[in-house]
Amino acid sequence: MRTRPLKVALLGCGVVGSEVARIMTTHADDLAARIGAPVELAGVAVRRPSKVREGIDPALITTDATALVKRGDIDVVIEVIGGIEPARTLITSAFEHGASVVSANKALLAEDGTALHAAAEEHGRDLYYEAAVAGAIPLVRPLRESLAGDKVNRVLGIVNGTTNFILDKMDTSGAGYSEALDEATALGYAEADPTADVEGFDAAAKAAILAGIAFHTRVKIGEVHREGITEVTAADIASARRMGCTVKLLAICERAADGQSVTARVHPAMIPLSHPLASVREAYNAVFVEAEAAGQLMFYGPGAGGSPTASAVLGDLVAVCRNKLNGATGPGESAYTRLPVSPMGEVVTRYHISLDVADKPGVLAQVATVFAEQGVSIDTVRQQGRQDASGEASLVVVTHRAPDSALSATVEALRKLDTVRGVASIMRVEGE
Ligand code: HSE
Repeated sequence: MRTRPLKVALLGCGVVGSEVARIMTTHADDLAARIGAPVELAGVAVRRPSKVREGIDPALITTDATALVKRGDIDVVIEVIGGIEPARTLITSAFEHGASVVSANKALLAEDGTALHAAAEEHGRDLYYEAAVAGAIPLVRPLRESLAGDKVNRVLGIVNGTTNFILDKMDTSGAGYSEALDEATALGYAEADPTADVEGFDAAAKAAILAGIAFHTRVKIGEVHREGITEVTAADIASARRMGCTVKLLAICERAADGQSVTARVHPAMIPLSHPLASVREAYNAVFVEAEAAGQLMFYGPGAGGSPTASAVLGDLVAVCRNKLNGATGPGESAYTRLPVSPMGEVVTRYHISLDVADKPGVLAQVATVFAEQGVSIDTVRQQGRQDASGEASLVVVTHRAPDSALSATVEALRKLDTVRGVASIMRVEGE
């Protein structure tokens, strides 16, 4: 074993960074044996230097992350500060000054992964980011390496724990969205500003990264169709239950049937209770990967939290250090297919539509005509008259698969009918 240690700079020492530092210390001998050289924490860049950080030598703490990555003797920079800047500049500078990078930064990779990969390649460094998608769950490496000889056609998963916790709570307790969000916040699953999670931005960044790796193309976060869970109601969940379904926020990346384009989307959807994703509870994540030769694979586990995310970071650290000792680099960006990303309107899906309609002769026929005019085939219809004086009935229509643009045009046309008093809920149906 080489005795001269590999030097590691840690950018960020919050929930994840402090766990990375702790495990690097407590498992130092095992890490050294697995890598073939000791790894030494050479500096830790933080925003608040006065904070007490147990187990970290105060002499390593600095507020000058820029100087740390420019030192020239750093072998690996671990970036766990998140956000676009200064992370992007620091990572680029790390490559220029001799270091490879392990990052957990989903937003940056989804926004600018191509430029970062290019910078890593230009300087002969590694860029690894297992922790950026679904915490501890190995997904990036299986897609980049284990499935490199296969053809992935679909990635479907729950990649945001906060929203899964909220939807699960709504499902099991009948709570409304606000009540379930309050509970998620109280238990520390949701941040004080939950926007990134509940509006689907976090899941969309992960979908962009997964789609790019899975299909060997480039998908930016802005190309991912995104809908969050803030509009999901207790009535939607109850309606899903009546259909033998539950509601999940899904990230879905698909190769088109003709293989000439891809799509990536994040939105709430009903899935049958018999689908394995339906049993993913609380804040867990799970991802289905469908590949031509391998068939269906499922990856399941904790998608967030200090220790699980640190596990993924440390796995990357070991891999990057091994590469460094071998004078090699691991896989870079693979985007040779250059497939266009199609808009949501071209995605073929199914809708569950719940309408409040006038309960009088001809209404069902009128509604059915709207579907027919848009070329959308109806799978099932359920009507229930209200036992009150409103003169209204509830009409639930589930469609066969159709282009999303035809389905949304159908809903638009339904809203214009006098006999349709309201569109109570619209949700896509997946996983069948
Ligand atoms: N906030 C994310 C989640 C974890 O709830 O899954 C980090 O991506």
